[in-house]
Amino acid sequence: MAKKTLNNLTDLKGKKVLIRVDFNVPQDEQGNVTNDRRIRAALPTIQAVLDAGGSAIVMSHLGRPKGDPKKDTPFKMDKVAQRLEQLLGRAVKKVDRVVGPEVEAAARALKAGEVLLLENLRFHPGEQKGDAALASQIAALGDVYVNDAFGTCHRSDASMLAVPAAMKGKPRVAGKLVAKELDILDNLLSSPPRPVVGILGGAKVSDKINFIKALLGRVDKVLIGGAMSYTFMKAQGRTIGGSRAEGDKLDLARELLTLGGNKILLPVDHLVVQKLDDPSTAKVVEGDIPEGWIGVDIGPKTIALYQGEVGKAATVVWNGPMGKFEDEPYSKGTRTMAQALANSKGVTIVGGGETAEAVEEFGLAEKMKHVSTGGGAFLEYVEGTPFKALAEIDDK
Ligand code: 3PG
Ligand code: MG
Repeated sequence: MAKKTLNNLTDLKGKKVLIRVDFNVPQDEQGNVTNDRRIRAALPTIQAVLDAGGSAIVMSHLGRPKGDPKKDTPFKMDKVAQRLEQLLGRAVKKVDRVVGPEVEAAARALKAGEVLLLENLRFHPGEQKGDAALASQIAALGDVYVNDAFGTCHRSDASMLAVPAAMKGKPRVAGKLVAKELDILDNLLSSPPRPVVGILGGAKVSDKINFIKALLGRVDKVLIGGAMSYTFMKAQGRTIGGSRAEGDKLDLARELLTLGGNKILLPVDHLVVQKLDDPSTAKVVEGDIPEGWIGVDIGPKTIALYQGEVGKAATVVWNGPMGKFEDEPYSKGTRTMAQALANSKGVTIVGGGETAEAVEEFGLAEKMKHVSTGGGAFLEYVEGTPFKALAEIDDK
């Protein structure tokens, strides 16, 4: 990597290391952490800082708080702090503010080997505005800046850009997670073992236009599943019954189909139901979806076809579920694709967000070459959008 990483820093003894992580984890309504993958992924960096005799001032956003203290309670970092403490096996001191006297005192009192977690950065109105005054207050807390927030690298929040900018002259490096994600994605983008198969699912074509275009330029086949396949089918003038589709994106879907030519595979059969919440009505249809029926997953012939393509691939990159996988009766397509990747001897890369969650839920995450912690960041990097946050990290 062209950027300095934590490995390039030799003397962290007694240093206060400001680490921007992405602890924006899935939560239930009470704010309990329902998946701690992003916290686990940041542990090597935090641990390395502590092992080297530094102290860690850890900071992240969590969710999208609205500025209403009552409604924002679930977004407080306390439960994240507890989980970090469990995973790290050390005490984590958590402050209730992002900046201010309480935070400064806690940072000052921090000793080698200790960990401090700031309150949700987005509780401060300056974070998402990239506010320089907020940034200089945060910057003053640390001797070193580490960006280990891969999942947030596509954002311009103060902690991602203005803080490292304010720390110019002090060491500013990428953490272990960011370095690992970038290495794997750079390899995928430059010289992937061929053939390369992309698997693309999820609800909307419109969310992933640039990603699809970028993939089409790099892969040998794209296997489409999820609700976006109904938009493509509709664009071809086929019937899709009551299936979810983006009626205003048909021109775009046609453009992508033309661009992809015979690289693009659409489902040849579907699992359909009459009522979404009644799996007992489920049946398999081939080809088009008749009126009165709703597509919820790819069908068995499609599963076999896609498994075959994954089996032949030397590189597989996957983003987006194949169906409404959160409902068990409609999860077979997504589950079998996850299994196909797990069985593959090729390089298997899974994009973050709900695809990563699905793979984890099936207990197959460890079988993949890489499961990204980035949702939007993963998509943007593969699209070729440079991360502004990386420009604020020192060159090697
Ligand atoms: C993410 O999960 O995409 C990142 O943590 C960024 O969060 P955001 O989409 O709310 O900016
Ligand atoms: Mg996002």
